[in-house]
Amino acid sequence: MASESVHGMWSSRLMFILAATGSAVGLGNIWRFPYMAGENGGGAFVLVYLGCIAIVGIPIMMAEILCGREGRQSPVNTMKALAARSGQSPAWESLGWLGAIAGFIILSFYGVIAGWAMAYIASVGAGDFVNTTAAEASAHFSNFTADAGLVVLWQTLFMVLTIFIVARGVDEGLEKAVKYMMPLLFLMLVVLLGYAMASGHFMEGLSFLFSFNIEKITADAVLMAMGQAFFTLSLGMGAIIAYGAYMPRDANILGTATIIAMLDTGVALMSGMVIFPLVFANGLEASAGPGLMFITLPIAFGQMEGGQIFGTLFFILVTFAALTSSISLVEPAVAWIVEKVKITRAQSAWLVGGLAWFVGLGSAFSFNIGSDITLFGDKTFFDTVDFLANNIMLPLGGMMACIFVGWLIDRRIPRDQLELSEGVFNVWQFLIRYVSPVAVFIIFVMSVFPELLKF
Ligand code: PHE
Repeated sequence: MASESVHGMWSSRLMFILAATGSAVGLGNIWRFPYMAGENGGGAFVLVYLGCIAIVGIPIMMAEILCGREGRQSPVNTMKALAARSGQSPAWESLGWLGAIAGFIILSFYGVIAGWAMAYIASVGAGDFVNTTAAEASAHFSNFTADAGLVVLWQTLFMVLTIFIVARGVDEGLEKAVKYMMPLLFLMLVVLLGYAMASGHFMEGLSFLFSFNIEKITADAVLMAMGQAFFTLSLGMGAIIAYGAYMPRDANILGTATIIAMLDTGVALMSGMVIFPLVFANGLEASAGPGLMFITLPIAFGQMEGGQIFGTLFFILVTFAALTSSISLVEPAVAWIVEKVKITRAQSAWLVGGLAWFVGLGSAFSFNIGSDITLFGDKTFFDTVDFLANNIMLPLGGMMACIFVGWLIDRRIPRDQLELSEGVFNVWQFLIRYVSPVAVFIIFVMSVFPELLKF
């Protein structure tokens, strides 16, 4: 198969690591992980989550990278080619499709939440939260999300930035973006960690995240931890297959996937270590749910010395993290269109991004003019697409990837791509054949039929 992709290549292994880590590190780490840990009692959730990353996350990430690097095309065409070479049904192309559609759906609502984070750069920066009360901060958030025009404005800005980067291509767009944004992101996180340490409540935050109480592990927490492991590593939707297609041949897959998973987990834990000490320092609740970042945290910043500056920095960090993820959500569809029809990458990026923006309006309006419109029972448009992508499409995509790579692919391909010793290869193969698909299947069934949890 081709040794290079027509879309371009990462210039080194390090650039692949930055790009894939950029995809992985996003709203999932800074917004979702801390509030889920907060809602599920801290340490117990964190432990289950770490287990899911190690046993399910890393093996599936390796499978996705190896498919991408072998196929060297968009996930749809990569799957098609690998199925043909392995003598399997061309229907496996649908795995690529499922991914591209899931990515598109995630992108649509991701742009809305990322837009909120961008809006908060402006409002925290302007000092809107200085000495604010809890009620005011909460009103600020609901007034903001209730303003459809404003929400769409920020969503549009975020989507245009995303499209702009992807339109410039793998080398000039994606690689340049991650090359500068990722080191800055780590730097900002370290600065904020120092700030959290100075809050005087750092140990309280740490013990919340790491103290382990077995009674707190509920079936629900396991379900959320597994879903989160998938989402945070960008698995099950083709982003990693697409990025793997641009990975140099000499980079080792096991080592690289492990580094990416560790960096991603490190950022999630560090975000928790930044957020919880600030929350506790101001006598606030850790279990605020999705409002933790947009309500609780601004109150904390508003009451602290230097909070205006560090709070602004925090929301810049979130925006950077979201941007390096959103570009990976568009890439699979953009690359596929470029391969399929004769339009330029820039046209393809505007087309895919523009459509995702349009569908995203549904999510933007779920918090204001469209909040009464519900689908599937009581779910708003936002809740519906979130559920569809995260609870159905990602696990389904992950499970199909396990079956294809674990059982059906030409056996020479994983051996050749992974270059592992016999023993290590067998461990990986055991995980990808039995452990990961079964674990994902159980979680999948339980999240689609929550009644089963009632036993
Ligand atoms: N991993 C990203 C995050 O944690 C989200 C994402 C999911 C990005 C799937 C790409 C693909 O925010």
